[in-house]
Amino acid sequence: MRTETGPPPRGNAPDSGGPLPGFVFDPSDPWTLVFQEGLAMSGLNGANVYEVGVGSGANAVHMLEKCGARLVSGSDLDARLPLLAQRVVERDAPGLRDRFRPVLGSVDLIGTPEAAAAVSGADAVVGCLPQVPDPLDDRCARFCAAFLGEDARGGSRADDYIAHYYPWTRFASMPYNAVGLGLIEALLRQVRSCAPRAQAVFNLGCRVGREALFAVFRANGYRPVELTSRIVPQSECTDIGFFAALEEASRGAGGERGIVCEFYADPQGRSPLTAAEAKRALDADPAAPVFHEVCVVRGTPAT
Ligand SMILES: C[S@@+](CC[C@H](N)C(=O)[O-])C[C@H]1O[C@@H](n2cnc3c(N)ncnc32)[C@H](O)[C@@H]1O
Repeated sequence: MRTETGPPPRGNAPDSGGPLPGFVFDPSDPWTLVFQEGLAMSGLNGANVYEVGVGSGANAVHMLEKCGARLVSGSDLDARLPLLAQRVVERDAPGLRDRFRPVLGSVDLIGTPEAAAAVSGADAVVGCLPQVPDPLDDRCARFCAAFLGEDARGGSRADDYIAHYYPWTRFASMPYNAVGLGLIEALLRQVRSCAPRAQAVFNLGCRVGREALFAVFRANGYRPVELTSRIVPQSECTDIGFFAALEEASRGAGGERGIVCEFYADPQGRSPLTAAEAKRALDADPAAPVFHEVCVVRGTPAT
């Protein structure tokens, strides 16, 4: 497992003007830029929006200021973040502060009565949630060990660990957990049951291929449309061993097509790399040029 190299550069903290704390997903990360581009194309003008994994609050500001959202609510698994998001909205969009409603406390997906109530009134539920199983999760560690001969359990957790990884074992009952989309699938199911008419707009890495992304929406009753996409550098903070193990595990007998993950050696996406090749390059040099695509997918309820 590659170890963390320390927190990436941050935007400004709301109070001090200094760097944001290390537990926040970097709001200037290319993932956020693609997501915000997609949010601007999601028809949120006048909408009541709920963000799962509200992070720094940068998207809340964006949706209120640039997308014309009427109301933005949001929660996060990390209880510190809705409070931080509230302060960021107060600082960056003071005139719109009354239109941001943080759901306080630690909220796993939309799993509290307050979160579920807010989601039930939402026109859109948006999120950029982890799509990589936690390498320190027992099941994931055993999977990687079985197919790569590596055990990551000696690795450490950076401050923003839960922004990058999700606990694989807990989502084992979700069919798309097999390709790292268990948390996304669980969220789609919860949203569908709580707000059957709301659209779901998610920021998704294309490392397991677009077909899998569209398939998880369809399998859960949504019609997916890709709004935008961009090739971004593979984050140094995220271990991609899971994807290499997935390729290895799917290498089948009998000529079937195994899973080949989608990485690139260049920012234009002209030189494809398998996950195994990408991992080898990053293991040799964490600054090696390894890229993948990120896209924003909007799912509209199929019925
Ligand atoms: C990749 S960061 C994205 C942050 C922000 N939405 C953005 O796009 O800049 C993922 C966020 O999801 C949160 N998160 C992770 N697992 C979660 C879960 N099960 N339920 C709710 N939030 C979660 C993390 O704490 C983190 O703030």
